[in-house]
Amino acid sequence: MLKDIYQPNPEFAKDATIKSMDEYNELVKKATDDYEGFWADYANEKIDWFKPFDTVLDESNAPFVKWFDGGQLNVAHQCIDRHIETRKNKAAIIFEGDRGDKQVITYLDLYYNVNKFANLLKEDFGVKKGDRVVIYMPMIPEAAYAMLACARIGAIHSIVFGGFSSEALRDRIEDAEAKVVITADGAYRKTKPYMLKPVVDAALTGDTPVKKVLVVERNNEEVTWVAGRDYSYNELIKSKSGKCDAEPMESEDPLFLLYTSGSTGKPKGVQHNTAGYILWAQMTMEWVFDVKENDTYWCTADVGWITGHTYIVYGPLAMGATTVMFEGVITFPDAGRPWKMVEEHKINQFYTAPTAIRVLHKMGEDEPAKYDLSSLKVLGTVGEPIDPPAWKWYYEEVGQSKCAIVDTYWQTETGGHVVSPLPGATPIKPACATLPLPGIIAEILDPETGEKVGEGESGYMCITRPWPSQIRGVWGDEERYKKSYFGDVKKDGKPVYFTGDGAVYGGDGYITITGRTDDVINVSGHRMGTAEVEAAIKKHDNVAEVAVVGKPHSLKGEGIFAYVVLKSDEGVADEIEEVKAINNIIKKEIGNIALCDDMIFAPGLPKTRSGKIMRRILRSIAKGEAITQDISTLEDPSIVAKIEAMANCSTC
Ligand code: PRX
Repeated sequence: MLKDIYQPNPEFAKDATIKSMDEYNELVKKATDDYEGFWADYANEKIDWFKPFDTVLDESNAPFVKWFDGGQLNVAHQCIDRHIETRKNKAAIIFEGDRGDKQVITYLDLYYNVNKFANLLKEDFGVKKGDRVVIYMPMIPEAAYAMLACARIGAIHSIVFGGFSSEALRDRIEDAEAKVVITADGAYRKTKPYMLKPVVDAALTGDTPVKKVLVVERNNEEVTWVAGRDYSYNELIKSKSGKCDAEPMESEDPLFLLYTSGSTGKPKGVQHNTAGYILWAQMTMEWVFDVKENDTYWCTADVGWITGHTYIVYGPLAMGATTVMFEGVITFPDAGRPWKMVEEHKINQFYTAPTAIRVLHKMGEDEPAKYDLSSLKVLGTVGEPIDPPAWKWYYEEVGQSKCAIVDTYWQTETGGHVVSPLPGATPIKPACATLPLPGIIAEILDPETGEKVGEGESGYMCITRPWPSQIRGVWGDEERYKKSYFGDVKKDGKPVYFTGDGAVYGGDGYITITGRTDDVINVSGHRMGTAEVEAAIKKHDNVAEVAVVGKPHSLKGEGIFAYVVLKSDEGVADEIEEVKAINNIIKKEIGNIALCDDMIFAPGLPKTRSGKIMRRILRSIAKGEAITQDISTLEDPSIVAKIEAMANCSTC
């Protein structure tokens, strides 16, 4: 039986899209009894098709699947044009800049801005259907226009988070063979300008597939302009027509790529296609956030991550909602900033990451009480497990014990939520993602047998039937797609999608995510492959070997712990300088988000006789746990005690 349960607020449930567990169960049953019929009905109801689809699901070439084949649509049309008749003067985007500057962009404004942007890309830059366009932008409305302009003309966008370094940007540009980069001169952070264009310049030195760079002049700081390559958006856009037909796209034409970390090698270009992605983005907006016509919804993510794609831009706009875009830092000028914004904009749904909740809690426990938060109805979390104290504060102080907390579990690869409470139906349990959404066959399986595990048992979080918004491929690497996602678990002899996460059933089918089972760590809700950080550290001349693991961190969820073995035997002359030098390389290769929280210069690494690094031991040492593993089979068992002593000392 479930303990510590919070029932949905009955006042809220009355008007909710899904009002009760009976309704939830009915939808689950419908999907179970007639999976294709379930999805076909929603696809017909929700999408404004240019041409109806012929088949619902084609699994003949699994794990490469096709949804709604034969259908034609356009995502920009779905997100903008179809709302013009009924919502042209409704706010589509409410923008709040770092310095408090505001803009309200109606659906009609959005229509013209996106059409002009699309014409610019076509006419001035020669962008065509299928071309890849990298977007390296701050959180300004032009980032959304750029995404939607690409969607309108059928170009495939690949957004690179603005915190990534020039090297990380270069890798992503090259992998996608992008011919255009859209960026800004810079933006503002804590009221001070910061620059993006110089990072783009550095990423484009030497051989590059990029022919043109479009620069949105946001902070008007001095930047370098390369003649024939760099163009000002602010200038070019002036002469563009506000009319641009939406390209008819096949259901399975790619919509975007988004690079994310895996346990091995370089980041993977996760590919999402058109119809299935937009359908689920829209449906989950309606179900999970329960956004009503007059609501104002705010997700604090950055458009550089999947949450920003699905739940700042595509999901809200597809359903015709009002979405808030925020350029600033939520703890600036103080930890009351988000609550002040909730009061001012009368926000109804607020969606953020556990890291942000922990920081806001720590820095401003009493701040929510200073503001009128009565407009709030649904609070969301995403990106990492949320710990019960942060959950409780969020529920009681921010939600005033009347808002549902939707702990949404999903990934870049799933496109949208897969396990989440429904705010009007699901009894919630602190720090628990609860139940699979209707239509998503998510099961915790035993990796050995492929059987579903029992209540109270843990296993691998899998999705055992294809779903419309699932990843369609890893850009340019079919094998990696199969191996990364369909290589580990088989059910009834058939490979099924494995998320990479462990999970446990906690009673009545409730799912709690326990974290990654692979070498991926989750730093402030950002996915980081330990292999990527290791590759960066190895670029330091004096590094012989390195192993990186995650370590629990009170604010970030996980921090990065590096064990570095230097080439020189003499030890380190100046540890602080050496740590700085290594962190500078990480900053250059990946960006500040991958800086190490702890680093020790170890005399060696614990390895088996065949040379495999025993990461489990390193993880235990990083956590300060006693070593329970058998170390007698190690090449040099004495190394463990030496590293343990150093680690204890580094934290003492
Ligand atoms: O480990 C899970 C964790 O974040 C991973 C996905 O990261 P990313 O692709 O960057 O997407 C983040 C935003 C969707 C997952 O494999 N994760 C995500 N949501 C939760 C979570 N862990 C626990 N609870 C969640 N609600």
